[in-house]
Amino acid sequence: MKRIVITRKLPAEAIAALQDNYQVSMWDSEEASAPREWIIEQSKEADALLTMLSDKIDAELLQGASKLKVVANLAVGFDNIDIQEATERGVAVCNTPDVLTETTADLTFALLMGTARRIGEAAQFVKEGKWKSWSPLLLAGGDIYGKTIGIYGMGSIGEAVARRAKGFNMEILYHNRSRKKEAENQLGASYVEFEELLSSSDFIVCLAPLTPETKGAFNADAFSKMKSSAYFINAARGPIVDEDALLKALEEGEIAGAGLDVFTHEPISQDHPLLSLPNVLALPHIGSSSVETRMTMMELCVENIANVLDGKNPKTLVNK
Ligand code: DGY
Repeated sequence: MKRIVITRKLPAEAIAALQDNYQVSMWDSEEASAPREWIIEQSKEADALLTMLSDKIDAELLQGASKLKVVANLAVGFDNIDIQEATERGVAVCNTPDVLTETTADLTFALLMGTARRIGEAAQFVKEGKWKSWSPLLLAGGDIYGKTIGIYGMGSIGEAVARRAKGFNMEILYHNRSRKKEAENQLGASYVEFEELLSSSDFIVCLAPLTPETKGAFNADAFSKMKSSAYFINAARGPIVDEDALLKALEEGEIAGAGLDVFTHEPISQDHPLLSLPNVLALPHIGSSSVETRMTMMELCVENIANVLDGKNPKTLVNK
């Protein structure tokens, strides 16, 4: 019987189709990641892996997994997987695009709004009993409506964020590897060079995949070119940002605030200096985390695994 390894405890209904037809070995905690040693050991006999974005599926692991045919990653991003090594070994790598686009765009826009309007601080203020009176500039933030949004990475999620921005009458700028004519025609988005994106935007929203080209793109030089009233939002991957440079930019008032759903090291430690700043709204990488969407993502992973093991084409193959 073919063997599937799942690196996090998933709801029984999501993996029922696998359990009926294969031998399934599943890590037994929903919160805590499976230790790397467990994944490596289990992979040795596995035909398929259902992995999380926090699992490192590198050459070492793939080399020891001689029976492996497919890795289905529960995320649209796949920077945690050595694609070249997988491809050389004939291992199909699948992700979960499209099904999470709108949910992730919702969260990104919520993070943008929450950062500008100081929602985290304001909620804490009420819960801590600090609200003594109405006052004219109490927790006053920045406006969103009619401002300029600069989207770095105009993929499907970038376009979905642009649609939301259009509803807020925002001017939409974007920077991407290639021009997106449809977004330009339908949303009135304008392509600009990176420098212009930085200097002209009131909100910079990072939605690019993590690649050698994007790694560290938001460094000290980039933050120094942003408006001092601008907000930086990251719902993509932590390493696209130099966190020391971001910290300095926030401390020195080079930018007004940051909304971060992703970090270089996840989970970020509670004593990280970024978390001590009132103008940082930090979330625990929940971009696609609605119950409906996460269930749909799991179903897609299950379908991709079943397809590959049945000799059919997976729905969302990364290494074509
Ligand atoms: C992903 O799936 O890669 C994103 O980080 C959504 O949270």
